Formats: sequence, C-alpha cells, structure tokens
Amino acid sequence: MTQALRLGIAGLGTVGVGVVKIVRRHADLLQARTGRPVQITAVSARDANKDRGVNLSDYAWETDPVSLAKRDDVDVFVELMGGENGPAKASVEAALASGKDVVTANKALLAIHGQELAEKAEAAGRVIRFEAAVAGGIPVIKSLTEGLAGNEITRVMGVMNGTCNYILTRMQSQELGYNALFEECAQLGYLEADPNLDVGGIDAAHKLALLSSIAFGTKPNFNGIEIEGIQQISLDDIHQAHDMGYRIKLLGVAQRTARGLEQRMQPCLVPSDSPLGQLEGGTNMVVLDGDAVEQIVLRGPGAGEGPTASAVMGDVCDLARGLHIPTFGRPAASLEEAKPAVTGLPAPYYLRLGLQDKPGALAKVASILGDAGVSIDRMRQYGHAESTAPVLIVTHKTTRATLDVALEGLRDTDVIAGEPVALRIEEV
Ligand code: NAP
Ligand code: HSE
Repeated sequence: MTQALRLGIAGLGTVGVGVVKIVRRHADLLQARTGRPVQITAVSARDANKDRGVNLSDYAWETDPVSLAKRDDVDVFVELMGGENGPAKASVEAALASGKDVVTANKALLAIHGQELAEKAEAAGRVIRFEAAVAGGIPVIKSLTEGLAGNEITRVMGVMNGTCNYILTRMQSQELGYNALFEECAQLGYLEADPNLDVGGIDAAHKLALLSSIAFGTKPNFNGIEIEGIQQISLDDIHQAHDMGYRIKLLGVAQRTARGLEQRMQPCLVPSDSPLGQLEGGTNMVVLDGDAVEQIVLRGPGAGEGPTASAVMGDVCDLARGLHIPTFGRPAASLEEAKPAVTGLPAPYYLRLGLQDKPGALAKVASILGDAGVSIDRMRQYGHAESTAPVLIVTHKTTRATLDVALEGLRDTDVIAGEPVALRIEEV
C-alpha cells in the first residue's frame, strides 16, 4: 500500500478537534483524493484529561508540542495552538529543523515571523501552508498562489474578521448592544484567545499582511498596516450610515501605489447594495483584482470549527499529493521589502462629532475643516436632549493625513466633547 501521510496535531481546541473529526469521518475520501491514507499519529494539548467530544485513544499523547514536532512517526506538523511566540513558534521551528512540513492556522505567528520561518522552511527543503489562517474556510491563498498565478494583482480587499462582521451586522439588524454580541461570538467559537485581537482590528490586519505578501511579492509587513478597531462604533453610527445608504464594515485594503504599498484595516462605510455591504454575520469576503482576470469575489464562513478545519485539510491534501509551493508563493529570498505608502489615496470621510450646543460652535468646526483643506459635502445636526449635539459631516475626497490635521484642530477646541469619529467611505 502507498505510504500514509502521518499528521501530528498540536492544539485540540475549536480547530484541532475539527481536523480530528474530518480525518476520522473522511478517511476513505481523503485516501481516494490524495492516493494515500491520511492518518493522525500523535496529538498534543495542555489538558490530557479534558473531554473534547472526539475519540483520541488511537493517537499518542505528547504534553510538549516541541516533542510532538520532532517525532519520527510524524510527516506533517499541524500547529493549531495559536500565539505569535511561545510554543507555537518553538514547535514550528522544531518541526522544520526535523525535516517536516508544517500546516498552521496561526496568522499572528506568520504575520510577525513569516519571513524568518519561510526562510527556515526553504533552507530545510520544507514548506509552511496556512490556508486556514486567512478568511477561515475560503480558499483565498490557493486562489492567489495557484488560480491567479498568471495575474499581476492590483488590489486585495475584504472583510476578514468574522467576529467584527457579526457584531456590526447584528448591531444593525437586532439593535443589540456590543456586550451581548461579544458573548454570542464567544459561544460560536469565533473569538481569538485574546478577543482584543478581534475587535481591535489586529487579527484582520495579521491576515491582510499575509495576503499582501503573496499578492505583491513583499515580505509580510504587519507594522506597515494602518489599523483601527470597531470599539468606537456606536448604534448611532450604524443608523446614520444606513440612512445615507451605507453599511459599516471592518475593511482591509492592500494595494500598490506610486508612493509604496498601502495597507489599511479600518472600519469603513461601504454602499449598502454592494456585495461587501450585504455581507452578514460571521461571513468573510475577499475581493481580488488582477490585470487579466479583472475581479473575483470570494465569500464564505470566516471562522468556526468546520470551515477552519476544512481549510487545514485542504493544505494537508496538497502535501499528501506532493504539492510544495513556497510559503508566500515565491522563494522567500526573492520577497522585496514592503515600502509603506506615506499618505493613503484620498476618499470621502464620515465624521461624527459631539458639538457643544453654544453660539458659534458649528462655525468653528467649519472653519477648522476649511483651514486644514477639508471640504464639507453634507452636514446634519440632529435631535438631542443634553448640552452636546451630535453632528454628522460627510466630506469631499481628502487624504487621511489632511483629515488628521483637521481632527487635531477639532480636539484642541473647546466646542467638541469626546473623541471625534472619522470613518472612510470606500469605493468598492
Ligand atoms: P482554542 O480553541 O483556544 O484551542 C487552542 C488549543 O491549543 C487548545 O487545545 C489548547 O489546549 C492548546 N494549547 C494551547 N497552548 C498549548 C501549549 N502550550 N501546549 C500544548 N497545547 C496548547 O483555539 P482555536 O480557536 O482552535 O485556534 C487555534 C488556531 O487557529 C489559532 O492560531 C487561531 O488564530 C486559528 N484560527 C482559529 C479560527 C477559529 O475559528 N477558531 C479560525 C481561523 C484560525 P487545551 O485545550 O488543553 O487548553
Ligand atoms: N477570530 C477570528 C474571526 C477567527 O473572528 O474571524 C478566524 O480567524
């Protein structure tokens, strides 16, 4: 019989258990598709006594994931613990040094250490696969590295964090508060171990850094991404955006410009009737623009046990078939430094300000915006019970740098209460 591909799985949480279930449920299917049996030989997690709802008795147990990574009866090390350092990094390095390929769902690890690990993998003649790290069940990395390999990619854009999209759409449809929605996300298994990674936009930015690297042939540059989370978005913003024909989404955009590589992950207003505007719940969407294909839109579940395990198994099957594509789609040594674009492309902005309800306050705001070179397109002040009046402004196109000058001026006046909210209105 053809030799089996033997997996060692470190991490038996949401994703790890999902992988065990697929390997057990689809043993025949996996063999039929790859031409060889796919088996688990050993597993690791912190608590050996936890009931995980799957039968693990056939597999050797290792308390230390580094030991698991070095085992002779493991061909592919599957890292599903998470964390950008610690046992995840140590065990991936140990696996590569022991001559094993690696499959991981860990975007934090690769966004920060991807270049170094890709170089280590290539030096060892191995690969790191990470389809599950970006947009859950959507095969976006496969699309970029394989299906679109004949294109120059001009832009990567998308909603890549299920938790944030779930919270933002349920705020809209159910009028529910942030805390209740956050709890629902935890129940659904969407949240990172540190949920601030989700709502702070960091998890989605990790994913953008990885896509950007593959799309543009640059070293992953997480620190070059402009990041804002969704914590400051209020029900009021959701309603106002809706009234103007928009939805608020945590949107990632990466594109090459004459000024360098623009990468941003921010809450933005997108038209309600656009595919991105209509994206509901924990679903993710990635829009890829290429010079030959023009545009493709990929949509699917961005998190959770089944979808993420599905992506892990796609990588495992490729390895079982002998497909070895370099980690970021081309040799690590050929990846260029990503020069961050200094000023983003201009766009209209939505501003929400808490204005002191006193004579001359609005005039002061208009003059600060005008002095900074920000032109007002629309403005609305609406009903209020207290001494602070909410004011909404939609600007004409301006750069974020110009807007930041205006926001600084607004913060320095005595007519604004609280922090101004500024959201880009994105053409999608
Ligand atoms: P999780 O449910 O928190 O599971 C983590 C697992 O790792 C647990 O089984 C834990 O053991 C184990 N673990 C943690 N530290 C360990 C250590 N030092 N030694 C051995 N085992 C250790 O996490 P998850 O949601 O499955 O996520 C795993 C990875 O997939 C992360 O990188 C995450 O970002 C990524 N990811 C998750 C999703 C998702 O929808 N959940 C989607 C895409 C990507 P115990 O169970 O014994 O505590
Ligand atoms: N916490 C992530 C999300 C999991 O909500 O999208 C998938 O990466």
